[in-house]
Amino acid sequence: MSIETEQLHLLRRPEGRPRPSDFALVEVRLPDLAEGELLVENLWMSVDPYMRRSMDADAKDLEPWPIGAALDGPCVGRVVESRNEAFAVGDIVESMSGWQRHFISDGTAFVPYLTPNNAVAKRSNPAASPQDYAGLLGMAAMTAYAGMNCLAAIEPGQTVVVSSGAGTVGSVACQIARIRGARVVSSAGTDEKVEWLRSGLGVDHAFNYRTRPIADSLRDGCQQGIDLVLENASAEHLSACLPLMNELATILVAGFVSIYSTGGKVHPFANFEFVLDRYLTIKGYRFMDSLDRYDDFVRDMLHWRAAGQLQFRETVYRGLASAPEAFCSLFDHSVSGKVLVALGEGAP
Ligand SMILES: NC(=O)c1ccc[n+]([C@@H]2O[C@H](COP(=O)([O-])OP(=O)(O)OC[C@H]3O[C@@H](n4cnc5c(N)ncnc54)[C@H](OP(=O)(O)O)[C@@H]3O)[C@@H](O)[C@H]2O)c1
Repeated sequence: MSIETEQLHLLRRPEGRPRPSDFALVEVRLPDLAEGELLVENLWMSVDPYMRRSMDADAKDLEPWPIGAALDGPCVGRVVESRNEAFAVGDIVESMSGWQRHFISDGTAFVPYLTPNNAVAKRSNPAASPQDYAGLLGMAAMTAYAGMNCLAAIEPGQTVVVSSGAGTVGSVACQIARIRGARVVSSAGTDEKVEWLRSGLGVDHAFNYRTRPIADSLRDGCQQGIDLVLENASAEHLSACLPLMNELATILVAGFVSIYSTGGKVHPFANFEFVLDRYLTIKGYRFMDSLDRYDDFVRDMLHWRAAGQLQFRETVYRGLASAPEAFCSLFDHSVSGKVLVALGEGAP
């Protein structure tokens, strides 16, 4: 059955910080299903900092978003019509076809994120809701798990530093590091977020990186030196960590959210001589490098949440029209935890 649906399109490539007016809500008619296709109604979509880079024409490792056409991004939906034997009406599926209410897929086997956006994966763990698959079990949480559980060998008592601690990757990483017995030091951009890190997540030393020099706060919090850094934020933060690193320590770089709206212009690195002096390892990584651990990730995250060892804070916007505002909020320090958009039940 052919249906009317809504998509968000990009109107222009912004300079600097994105604005909701960079997007337009557009009505489109989807065609009848061909043999082998399925129609999915999206229930939840995720907004993520990397999407700012998708707005640029030279998005480097990403496919740039087109102007005036459907966008892509992580989402979870329900199959509402199927002419594909592998999918039944009611199946919950995860895909990269976000920023739209409905989409048609040929159901091609799931390909990890950032590859063809019509691939879908069935998700059926009875302990997880569609919202969980977009948030608790989504790619940002998986990034934290990959860093703290797959790549790093954290030993009890070690000092782990996490930047952007009140974001999704950061807040999950702080908690996994604590579960593994580390002493955790973390930063955030408002006093309210710092208080959540301290009293909500049990971070041992939390500080506001916008109101005091980062180096001073790190010195106060890392009196035994630093054994592991998970860098999410900036060259400024990473540079301040370097003189405090212990010998043979590791720096995992998940991202640099501070430069996504600067066209890649990076605050100059400092203190790089400590990489040699302290025999440091610096490793950039992506969550999809650890997708062979996806089942362990799902099991551990659901277990930690059920056992009360892990809190997963979410900020929920409602309705597709609110997605641009949700996305822009990632860059103005106003939100914490995972930012999701409800498109199905719960949306206006
Ligand atoms: N490598 C991977 O596979 C992978 C996957 C997912 C995400 N990532 C990266 O991980 C990092 C965190 O992502 P996330 O999903 O956790 O994001 P998130 O939940 O949206 O949190 C992002 C946080 O970044 C902080 N921020 C915003 N603008 C900033 C600026 N100019 N300078 C410093 N901090 C700023 C804000 O917190 P404050 O107000 O506290 O500053 C914001 O809450 C990003 O760099 C992202 O690209 C990597």
